Amino acid sequence: MNLKIKTSIFLALALLNIANATPTGKALANSKCVKCHLPTTPTPKEMKRLKAPPFDAILFHAKDALKEESKVKKHIVEFTLNPNVSKSVCESNKVAKFGLMPSQKGSVTKEELEKIADYLYANYPTEKFVKLITKMQTDSKINALKNSPFLINIDTLPHLTKILMRNWDKEALNLSKEQKEKLLVVRKETMTGVKKIKQALKPIESEIVDLMYDGADLKTIQPKVDKVAKLKKQATMIHLKCLKDTIEILNDEQIEYIAPFWDL
Ligand code: HEC
Repeated sequence: MNLKIKTSIFLALALLNIANATPTGKALANSKCVKCHLPTTPTPKEMKRLKAPPFDAILFHAKDALKEESKVKKHIVEFTLNPNVSKSVCESNKVAKFGLMPSQKGSVTKEELEKIADYLYANYPTEKFVKLITKMQTDSKINALKNSPFLINIDTLPHLTKILMRNWDKEALNLSKEQKEKLLVVRKETMTGVKKIKQALKPIESEIVDLMYDGADLKTIQPKVDKVAKLKKQATMIHLKCLKDTIEILNDEQIEYIAPFWDL
């Protein structure tokens, strides 16, 4: 065989090899998942238009909730084939917002998913996303504190119904239908009461600011401060009642499950 033929056979084989090369986890994720899941860290603008959680967010929550590498990968494979609200690691309010993922059975195989899971586990969440989410969590905490109508704002007296809403459908929390109905009543009562107080607080606080700028006598201002204090006391009592009622509805295991979320 002359060199020319040898070279072309070699080239043909090499090309064949490329065509047959099995796609990488990254290529598979790109072709099968990114039409819904953003592979980059979302910008604040993109954040508002998401169709599904970005890979960053999924892996952030999955690693946080499941801890072990094998469990995270298994979850990705199993969830993608059989999505199930109660098994989701994402917050329940987010799943409700996006809608449950349609099963990808038929468009991706278990073997392909294992590769995708390896790829996702190794590359997400990105450092950039972790920084972003940490900042967002801090900002929202500061915001909540700034606008808080309560007298007592400490992590160990949490807003339990909010934490529960985020874990509402989780299998691990296992809320019964009856419990959910009772909890919704408590939440509604609490929200209505607190909202009224917030609305009453706003004008009084503005008045205090105006009086201060006008150089008013502190004696004129004090009754308004007393009013603010009284309203905040009422809001705090509503909060404590909510906490008490909620704890009464839950069993010990459920309280144990949500306890780690208290210092969010
Ligand atoms: C048609 C859009 C769509 C496609 C395609 C899609 N997903 Fe999803 N996926 C979603 C939505 C929406 C959610 C959020 C709601 C949920 O968790 O079910 C989600 C959530 C997930 C979750 C989070 C599970 C959890 O615990 O909540 C994983 C893991 C996931 N997708 C993996 C994949 C993988 C891997 C692929 C590609 C093989 C893929 N998805 C393709 C829409 C999609």
